[in-house]
Amino acid sequence: MIDDTPPEPLPQATGDDDADAVRRDSGAAESSRANRGWWDRNADEYQDEHGSFLGDARFTWCPEGLDEADARLLGDPASLRGRRVLEIGAGAAQCSRWLAAQGALPVALDLSHRQLQHSLRIDQQLDREPVPLVQADATELPFADGSFDLACSAYGAVPFAADTARLMTEVHRVVRPGGHWVFSVTHPIRWAFPDEPGPEGLTALASYFDRTPYVEEDDAGAAVYVEHHRTMGDRVRELTLAGFRLVDLVEPEWPEGLTSEWGGWSPLRGRHIPGTAIFVCVRDGS
Ligand SMILES: C[S@@+](CC[C@H](N)C(=O)[O-])C[C@H]1O[C@@H](n2cnc3c(N)ncnc32)[C@H](O)[C@@H]1O
Repeated sequence: MIDDTPPEPLPQATGDDDADAVRRDSGAAESSRANRGWWDRNADEYQDEHGSFLGDARFTWCPEGLDEADARLLGDPASLRGRRVLEIGAGAAQCSRWLAAQGALPVALDLSHRQLQHSLRIDQQLDREPVPLVQADATELPFADGSFDLACSAYGAVPFAADTARLMTEVHRVVRPGGHWVFSVTHPIRWAFPDEPGPEGLTALASYFDRTPYVEEDDAGAAVYVEHHRTMGDRVRELTLAGFRLVDLVEPEWPEGLTSEWGGWSPLRGRHIPGTAIFVCVRDGS
């Protein structure tokens, strides 16, 4: 757990504007180190840019604005009362705050200390009980077997981990039999397209089948940001091998009237190709 002392004043984000983007291998240790540093440096900017869309206590799965309150991918909100929920890659724990409002017992886990500090900031501003926070890597969950009734993640951790098979196995271990694991990620088809919101983002220039990681490097060639791609089939196989049963795969459509962009997610692209995939899984067994 990280301590619940009030967060320090937030400094300016430094960003990584000078980083070069390449496609090359990046192992678990390098990816984790790079992404932890990147999210620590960029958490302020992320929360500044997306905080109003995310809300302080809203559970939205994706830039398409699909809310858990409507989608009910974790079940009827009333059924969440008393449930132990692990939110993975929680950022400032906005989803956990919504879960707590339904009477659930969330724990928000993230690799980045700075992201978690924003959770403390929001709780302090709302003058509410802090969401319990854990700083850890999602591929090494510091919890006993079966500690949670369900786990969820909105774009957290899964696209950033080199060893997602291990991540799935870890989530399977800490969720009790019969529990749900629901997570959203960038739709795998987007890997083939430039990450641009305009028309240039509508032409497939890369191979959907190329799993070579996307790496941003500093001048010395050290990774400062890493994303890992899996095809749809890869994800299904990893989930199945870990012991999950896939019960739904949600591809939210861009809603009429949503004009806001989020990086490469835009109304234009949203009309043509899916931007998000949400995997709804159950841990089998008793
Ligand atoms: C795109 S943000 C999403 C945050 C939050 N779920 C939201 O919707 O705003 C991705 C988050 O995943 C976290 N993350 C990246 N790699 C991780 C890992 N290996 N383990 C745990 N968290 C990780 C980052 O620190 C970051 O907060």
